[in-house]
Amino acid sequence: MKLAVLISGSGSNLQAFIDACDEGRLAAEVAVVISNRPQAAGLHRAADVGIPCRVIDHTLYPDRAAFDQALLDAMAPFQPDLVILAGFMRILTPSFIGSYRGKLLNIHPSLLPKYPGLNTHQRALDAGDSHGGATVHFVTEELDGGPPVLFAAVPIDAQTSVAGLAQEVQQREHQIYPQVAQWFVERRLALTPSGATLDGDLLPRCGLDVDTL
Ligand code: GRF
Repeated sequence: MKLAVLISGSGSNLQAFIDACDEGRLAAEVAVVISNRPQAAGLHRAADVGIPCRVIDHTLYPDRAAFDQALLDAMAPFQPDLVILAGFMRILTPSFIGSYRGKLLNIHPSLLPKYPGLNTHQRALDAGDSHGGATVHFVTEELDGGPPVLFAAVPIDAQTSVAGLAQEVQQREHQIYPQVAQWFVERRLALTPSGATLDGDLLPRCGLDVDTL
């Protein structure tokens, strides 16, 4: 299967996909990497291994619709089977999401449905939560609100800092995101009107816990 990976920043999750494909843990190919930021470091990770890269700079478009159309146009020649949002910091229009419904995944640095949006680690610490984490979910029109598939929880204690939590969570992200993509490639994972299913079974509201697999 062919993947399109959309980034805005460092691309450590993109790197996890490149590595998983190289090592045969993910039976897919990163066909194109698209960044909305010309300076995104992740572009170098892709270019260094010969993956086609495109920059669609959102500041050059009059509105979200025009930007999203440019994204669709850039992806179309590569005919991606699955679109991976990997630290892509733009809200997509319903029209874009509809074009890739059921083929669009995101990773969010919280235990969804807790803390959609930004500053997730700070919010988990402020709330006195016992765990932070990350969740891979299908993308729907609701921001960070599509059905969760798989999460990894990271314990929080009195010494935990935002930076420390962020670092630990990111390491777990690199484990769970390619795993979910592999389920999709194996056609085990689907988005249905009732939610996300794995092998035909509806997944729990928070997704599966990777540590119980
Ligand atoms: C990740 O922590 C992800 O949860 C969030 O953005 C970050 C992207 O990091 N959505 P990277 O660019 O993959 O290193």
